[in-house]
Amino acid sequence: MADYTLKVRRYQPESGEGPYWEEFKVDLDPSLSVLDGLLQAKDRDDGSLSVRCSCRAAICGSCGMKINGQSGLGCKTQIGEAHEQANRRNGGSEPIVVEPMGNMPVIKDLITDMESTHWDKIRRVTPWLLPHGDPPEREYVVDPESMIDITQSMACIQCGACVSSCLSMEADPEFIGPAALAKAYRFVGDPRDAETKERLHDLAHDPHGIYDCTHCFSCIDACPKGVAPMDQIMRLRRKAGEEGIEDPNSGHHHEMAFVKIIEKKGTLDEVALPRESFAFGVKGKLKPSKRAIKEVLGALPTIFRTIRSGKVRAKWIAPHHKLPDGAQDEVKDVYRHAEEHREEFNLYIKGEEGDEEAAVEEGLEPPQSREEAVK
Ligand code: SF4
Ligand code: SF4
Ligand code: FES
Repeated sequence: MADYTLKVRRYQPESGEGPYWEEFKVDLDPSLSVLDGLLQAKDRDDGSLSVRCSCRAAICGSCGMKINGQSGLGCKTQIGEAHEQANRRNGGSEPIVVEPMGNMPVIKDLITDMESTHWDKIRRVTPWLLPHGDPPEREYVVDPESMIDITQSMACIQCGACVSSCLSMEADPEFIGPAALAKAYRFVGDPRDAETKERLHDLAHDPHGIYDCTHCFSCIDACPKGVAPMDQIMRLRRKAGEEGIEDPNSGHHHEMAFVKIIEKKGTLDEVALPRESFAFGVKGKLKPSKRAIKEVLGALPTIFRTIRSGKVRAKWIAPHHKLPDGAQDEVKDVYRHAEEHREEFNLYIKGEEGDEEAAVEEGLEPPQSREEAVK
């Protein structure tokens, strides 16, 4: 047994007071969970402490919460580990901080209202099969191989941890979000569904749909069941691209521009990115397509904002150098390997926030990009 302190963000609407923090001392084996700690505090100190839970085994999805700022399940987070995490940097006396999930209205203490932020969005993606024709006399028979692709998205327990951690949803509460989009892939990838193209068209054309995700990986870190919602969103995008669906915001072209530039140059050429994203089809200065002209004109405010915000500095608008010493060939090998084996790969950020500014302050050549292709 060990002593732990839980610092809980509380909100009791019936009191008429705003949210406040309260600390509870609990005494538990380190292998027990943060949820066990909360239930002990409720039992011994304050019966009004409210938390939603049922299975206590990471199955029902009820106990989503933030622990030390990280969204997850209270019943799947060991209290000993949460204590270590809270004290990694400072000696051992910090409490474990427990808050309600983010991006959702709080009903009471750790209980959030998931209706508008989660369930409405799940309904929004028509979460059931839409097969055509008469149903078979007996069950549908599906080749097991073709179901493997959607097994990951089927593992979702609807806990909302991914929604809680989603950075895009913070900026755009209308974003359909990681949980609902992972659910959408569960049906888009199902060979029995006959409305795949309509689903993809809808999700690509919705301004709060698949291209609203900023690829930040937070939902992957938060998901307690390994659903990796961001990966499901990327699969939806790829399928939409394969179907030739063009979204009004050029999200597909923007994504393809990333892929093309990294393949060609190894690092991201920030100057080429808007041109490749919005002015694809410009065959030469004398032959821009109508769509390209429209896209470029539409993108001008974004381009000016990018320059004004300092994301692209004037001194960077210079020839972009390829990677040295054969590294470029290694990047191409990664592409070749992925294509040959039909493997997925993602772009990961390399370096820490502020590296670019530090390099500029020290008078060094700023890194051309912090993105690199990693299989
Ligand atoms: S990767 Fe996309 S869906 Fe996932 S948390 Fe980030 S913005 Fe949200
Ligand atoms: S995708 Fe993961 S984090 Fe999101 S609701 Fe489903 S199980 Fe929870
Ligand atoms: S109580 Fe069921 S998932 Fe935590």
